[in-house]
Amino acid sequence: MTDQNLKELLADMSLREKIGQMLQLPAGIYLEPGSREAVTGPDSDMKLTDEDLDNAGSILGTWGPALDHIQKEQMAKQPHHIPMLFMLDVINGFRTVYPAPLGIGASFDPELARDCASMAANEAALSGVHVTFSPMADLCRDARWGRVMEGTGEDPYLNGLMAAAMVEGYQGSGMQKYGCGKICACIKHFAAYGAATAGRDYTAAQLSEHTLREFYLSGYKAAVDAGVGMVMTSFNTVDDIPATANRKLMRDILRKELGFDGVLISDYGAIRETIAHGYAADKEEAARKALEAGVDIDMCSDCYSAYLEQQVKNGGIDEKLIDEAVLRILTLKNRLGLFEHPYRYADSKKAEQYILCPENRALARKAARESFVLLKNRENILPIAADQGETIAFIGPYTDNRSMLSSWTIVGEEKDVVTIREAVQELEENGQTAGVAGADGNTTHFLFARGCPVIGRNETFYTYDNREAAALSDQDLARMEAEALNAAKRADRVVLCVGEHFLQSGESTSRTELLLPEVQLNLLRKVAEVNPNIVTVLFTGRPLDLREVKKYSKAILVVWFPGTEAGHAITDVLFGKEAPQGKLPMSFPYCTGQEPISYNEFSSGRPMPEGQHIRFFSGYLDAPNEPLYPFGYGLTYSEFRLSEAKLDRTVIHSGETARISAVLENTGKRKGTETVQLYIRDVAASCVRPVRELKGFRKVTLAPGESRTVEFSIGEEQLSFLRADGTVGTEPGEFRIFLGLSGADGKMTKLRLE
Ligand code: BGC
Repeated sequence: MTDQNLKELLADMSLREKIGQMLQLPAGIYLEPGSREAVTGPDSDMKLTDEDLDNAGSILGTWGPALDHIQKEQMAKQPHHIPMLFMLDVINGFRTVYPAPLGIGASFDPELARDCASMAANEAALSGVHVTFSPMADLCRDARWGRVMEGTGEDPYLNGLMAAAMVEGYQGSGMQKYGCGKICACIKHFAAYGAATAGRDYTAAQLSEHTLREFYLSGYKAAVDAGVGMVMTSFNTVDDIPATANRKLMRDILRKELGFDGVLISDYGAIRETIAHGYAADKEEAARKALEAGVDIDMCSDCYSAYLEQQVKNGGIDEKLIDEAVLRILTLKNRLGLFEHPYRYADSKKAEQYILCPENRALARKAARESFVLLKNRENILPIAADQGETIAFIGPYTDNRSMLSSWTIVGEEKDVVTIREAVQELEENGQTAGVAGADGNTTHFLFARGCPVIGRNETFYTYDNREAAALSDQDLARMEAEALNAAKRADRVVLCVGEHFLQSGESTSRTELLLPEVQLNLLRKVAEVNPNIVTVLFTGRPLDLREVKKYSKAILVVWFPGTEAGHAITDVLFGKEAPQGKLPMSFPYCTGQEPISYNEFSSGRPMPEGQHIRFFSGYLDAPNEPLYPFGYGLTYSEFRLSEAKLDRTVIHSGETARISAVLENTGKRKGTETVQLYIRDVAASCVRPVRELKGFRKVTLAPGESRTVEFSIGEEQLSFLRADGTVGTEPGEFRIFLGLSGADGKMTKLRLE
């Protein structure tokens, strides 16, 4: 359709029909083709009439062949036969699941993020999905907030690169021109959801407008610049107004300043929630305020469908606002090609061949490997030589467990997951664990013991029904532990597979203690009494307090929630087929009380002198200021040395660039990949600047003994910031530049801008 056709269509639609386009139905309305289920649960107060259902413009949470029937039925009933949009949370994969987004952040590899998103988009599009509610570009600096798992971490620069790459991956190359390619991406949650007070979900975000604009908006901005087709509002308040009804945020900042011209959807029920926030007295007011703020689609509440029409008729709302919103929705449908092809790319035959195909599994495996972060490797206990005739005990609740997909996996199935035990057994079957000389005596032996459930019987998290532990008697628990300790005693090394339950991170999983479940910590303590050679493989959706894990483990490998190919990727790295290369995308705190913590904080007026802990300087009585492991940190199996950085000049003038370089050398015995990171500090400015900001990074793979010069340019782009007067640009003065291998590393050099 041409733009003119769309306008004519709009002009021909009744008010009721138009409002219908602005309603998104919840999943569950159409469970069976041809049937409309009653709306239950949190949506049960939705007053939906048959006419609302006939007119609805989109549906959330369904996929697969059922969509054909739903589309056909809907188009027959909708007066202008307008097709529906099918939206779904395709977060870290569709059916082939790759690592949780925080793990993708750890890869420091935007191309990988793009490839993964592209694969997910293909699987989803073949299954009839038109829009994914991804990527989440919220900046996350508080690990108490469980949704940190859905983002790529604490750094605005890294977040921006990742968000843009994911948008490109989902939307395909046609995106810049048409707004959408294969499926439409929807950036979320606009804005500053990651700044939820004290890490508690759905609460207020308290931050200055300067901090919002300078740091929190960058991920969303990068996605808008990459041509994202949709944006979702957030549940929190911004500047004491719920984001979903925040006119300044949506109309002035998102649309005018960032230049977003796509469809804006509320988060789930968020328009209705403005009442609980205390910003609207009732649904009528909530609907009006959200519309005035520029929200086009009401996700799963009846505020728009039941309360807009009357207000337009009695003059309380200008119909122009509705026309504007509906035209944007029709334009998106048109860009996706739905008027000509209502089932667009849906193709169950192709889906069958493509979904979970070997190439997709291979990508998921590569992505998982790249996401792993090695935090510690004393005595080079890793990698494990598979052919040295040792006895290796795999112990812990993740040893043979398929729940490694993350809490936002909707379509992915646990039955497709390769467990660690299965992957080890494959190695055995392929003869890869036989002795080098093939002598039987050299064959490596593996023992497996679960040791304990993921969550103990007495540990609860409120909404979780702990069936795993409930099914275990005291005797079962004692037997499991005895088996594990017995295996640990017999083994040369223990690989302890422990971590958060997959439902302990994601939406509505705020925590006040960032520890491993107590039952697993107990297992760790007991195993350590009988075997000091512990390699901990840690599953988690967020940074944890790892003090005890560090104390008892010789190596710690963070594997996040790795996805379908978890077992293969983990054994690839444990046995040295591939070396770990991930870097932390969020600081791992020393203790929970440090949260929120991020490397890019502001300095206090009394910064603690380095290496000291003295009174009347900014610090804690009972903990250091530094995290246990900083942003950007991660080891590999080789050693690298970075030479002192050289600046080609010490002074630059406006418009000029300086070049900084250093030589990276692999001084170890194995091939490996390091990430050289460029950080800058603006020493004095019209508003305070972070103690360090990441401005560039390069991943470099080197053979043993090999070295390479790594170079970065420093100019306007790297030195600009949002100045106190609200303009973006540089200010003359001194800058400190660090080239290093983590956020806390690197010798300082100085550059002056004159
Ligand atoms: C979440 C969103 C999600 C939406 C639809 C909400 O509860 O906050 O991130 O996209 O549900 O599933």
